[in-house]
Amino acid sequence: MRNDQAGSPLIEIQRATVYRGDTCVFTDFSLSLQEGEHVAILGPNGAGKSTFLKLLAGEVHPVPNDATNIRLFGEEQWNVWDVRKRLGMVSHELQHQYMDQVTGLKVILSGFYASIGIYSHQDFSYAQVAMADKMLEEMGAGSLKDRRFGAMSTGEQRRCLLGRALVHDPTALVLDEPTSGLDLTATFHYLDLVRAHMQKGKTLLLVTHHIHEIPPEVERVVLLKQGKTLQDGEKRAVLTEANLSQLFDCPVTLVQANGWYQALPG
Ligand SMILES: Nc1ncnc2c1ncn2[C@@H]1O[C@H](COP(=O)(O)OP(=O)(O)O)[C@@H](O)[C@H]1O
Ligand SMILES: [Mg+2]
Repeated sequence: MRNDQAGSPLIEIQRATVYRGDTCVFTDFSLSLQEGEHVAILGPNGAGKSTFLKLLAGEVHPVPNDATNIRLFGEEQWNVWDVRKRLGMVSHELQHQYMDQVTGLKVILSGFYASIGIYSHQDFSYAQVAMADKMLEEMGAGSLKDRRFGAMSTGEQRRCLLGRALVHDPTALVLDEPTSGLDLTATFHYLDLVRAHMQKGKTLLLVTHHIHEIPPEVERVVLLKQGKTLQDGEKRAVLTEANLSQLFDCPVTLVQANGWYQALPG
């Protein structure tokens, strides 16, 4: 579902070359996304999906080059903390980095500062605490308010991190393999929560190698392989057996039901 803001540029990357250590992940990579356009970037392990998100979060940088142009929210210059607040991100790395002793409510509160845990110098208004409380309930995590992060199940941790990503009302929700490691119930619950926020106007940017976690509302799919765009377009046209077989280098049979897709051995 497109929201009222559809059409304003969210992310514009032109001709970026990006290294991680000695590995050149992207060479002359370009991709633009609009606000209100739900997009899934699908690709095998090592394709560069997480690196792309790190580029958005300002955790990795392109090689300086006159031809390279990156605009976020239409601006060439941005404050990394502003961007982190406008993009509600959840990644596995975040889940691993997150400190075990932080309680459920504080995990959510930390979203207001895009920090990991909360600190004595950070002030929270009554309104922010109330919003965090409400978000915890909305995530079905009310009982985790005082529970340590380290004592939560993977699904509970993931829902708290989703609440953290949403509490500051970002423009877009940015998820890296959102349901990997979750059982079927936790997967369905998590995807329901994500879809509810898409319907409330959040733009979804999803990066994954799991075809089955692409919600029906996603209209555009980008196939990424070895840092290159293999296909980019309307989901129905891009998610084909031929394209996926080429993407994953193995024969794929694709099944589809109620707007969801699943890959089976070909
Ligand atoms: N810190 C790093 N140092 C060196 N190479 C890295 C580092 N992180 C990732 N890479 C390499 O960059 C490539 C892209 O990784 P990544 O963006 O994590 O892919 P994906 O998320 O699609 O699985 C891979 O070849 C990976 O080995
Ligand atoms: Mg990754």
